Amino acid sequence: MTKEKGAYYITTPIYYPSANLHVGHTYCTVMADAMARFKRLQGYDVMFLTGTDEHGQKIQQIAEAAGVTPQEYVDRVVAGIRELWAVMEISYDDFIRTTEDRHKLRVQEIFRKIYEAGDIYRGVYEGWYCTPCESFWTDTQLRKNKCPDCGRDVVRAKEDAYFFKLSAYADRLLALFDEHPQFLEPETRRNEMTQFIRQGLEDLCISRSSFNWGIEVPIEDGQVIYVWLDALSNYITALGWPELGAGAAGAAGATDVKENHDKYDRYWPADVHLVGKEIVRFHSIIWPAMLMSLGYPLPKKVLGHGWLLLDGGKLSKSKLAEGGQGAKSRNIVDPVELIERYGVDALKYFLLREYTFGQDGQFTTEAMLKRVNGDLANDLGNLLSRATGMNDKYFGGAIGRPDAIFPDGPLASAGAIPDAAAIEDRELISLALGTATKVEDHMDRFEFNHALESIWELVSRSNKYIDETEPWVLAKDEDGRERLGQVLYTISESLRVVSILIQPFLVSSSTKIREQLGLGGETLRWEDSQIFGAEKTFRTSKGESLFPRIDIEKELAAIDEM
Ligand code: MSP
Repeated sequence: MTKEKGAYYITTPIYYPSANLHVGHTYCTVMADAMARFKRLQGYDVMFLTGTDEHGQKIQQIAEAAGVTPQEYVDRVVAGIRELWAVMEISYDDFIRTTEDRHKLRVQEIFRKIYEAGDIYRGVYEGWYCTPCESFWTDTQLRKNKCPDCGRDVVRAKEDAYFFKLSAYADRLLALFDEHPQFLEPETRRNEMTQFIRQGLEDLCISRSSFNWGIEVPIEDGQVIYVWLDALSNYITALGWPELGAGAAGAAGATDVKENHDKYDRYWPADVHLVGKEIVRFHSIIWPAMLMSLGYPLPKKVLGHGWLLLDGGKLSKSKLAEGGQGAKSRNIVDPVELIERYGVDALKYFLLREYTFGQDGQFTTEAMLKRVNGDLANDLGNLLSRATGMNDKYFGGAIGRPDAIFPDGPLASAGAIPDAAAIEDRELISLALGTATKVEDHMDRFEFNHALESIWELVSRSNKYIDETEPWVLAKDEDGRERLGQVLYTISESLRVVSILIQPFLVSSSTKIREQLGLGGETLRWEDSQIFGAEKTFRTSKGESLFPRIDIEKELAAIDEM
């Protein structure tokens, strides 16, 4: 396929492999995957990056408690994360681990460069440290003497350390938000960050000497780089940037370091860093300041999404540890379990359709099951089984394009629909032809829920079309046969359009629909969702139902019993 649309680089945060991921973590990755697939379908040359953030005191402590080395510990958890993404059909192009040589050597290079630019100095760190969040806080930042992010206890810490001159970048950061408001969205986050900077930025402690599970500071033994400088750098180290000094890779005995500047040249600056709201601060203040110091271009956009909440609080790994269920609310928060019970597409659809980007939302299994039954089983699944069932019954599955409605072949605009077409055909065809544009508009604004809503308008209209045209009545009489053929072709075409539109969101369902419609497995093209009457002849066959209906009460009771 030609990639005339250019490059598109999208990232997720790199996850802490301190424990298995819960459904809240999958939210961001599912959105990033849908966007990456959407852009690929449109012909963009997409780079979709995810990975794991493996250093820091917390991981070291957990590994020690588990009686294994930190490396052994993260290797095990990371293997599980990669398996999860495989099951969820997450189409990342690269998976970066911060323990890889290709990353470590470049982080040291980044440290060196910022030091040489005069933005790193040695000092004494004294302040409050939240171990679970790996965050340092000043007196004023604490909330009721606790970590302002997670509300847990903080400890007093004092040690020699390196500092990054973040304070020197306050004016340039304010100018960035002012001159390029699209750099940070939603607006509420931008306002928060502007206020945060105006309160006064302190220099940032970027090394520690009290633990050793980290990348060594390249200019002094006994210090390791503090996780955020390490972590944020992944977005460029994965692209093979910065270049390593001659022989650096060999000298360090690295085996996984490849000099590949093409990727940096092609994909940087990133089009979007998708991140949760609590780490917007790191991505919109520290990361741009680091890049300014390095003299590298800034990402085009940082987008902060909201949280999935359980019983009003943030979903957390400890709730996962309680056996995959949230307290007293009949909820499953382990994504593996949700997928085993309801399927990947059910989970993806729910995450993308239920929540509004940027806002928090409640997670409940019940809400998910309602969506699955309503939108997936009743609307989409039913449309497919009705269509293929009637095609089989009345025409042995062979449905040809009717000349009366398509005298000149496929239609590319509503204006081209012939006058001879019935009103309900006209309505359905024009809606189908216009849906792709609506989806594009919503996706431009990361409104996954509205994009799906638009597609489901077409699904519902198609079901309504069946009710209006009553194919079973037409079938009773030989005179109705021509019209019956027209009706069944129109429904099949509508399903073909739907199969393309949903592909970025629900990969397996798209494939299943296409199989039942008898369409080949060729690479899909987004443009083909903007024409109606593309298929000359369908050879459809009714297959398994896409989404079996769930007895919600029974299912919730069964979860209770677990
Ligand atoms: N390692 C850092 C990110 C470094 S990026 C250079 C980190 N890791 S994390 O595993 O704690 O969180 C990763 C992402 O998961 C964050 O964006 C966070 O917002 C998201 N989520 C964690 N719990 C979540 C919910 N309950 N709901 C939605 N997203 C959530 O932070």
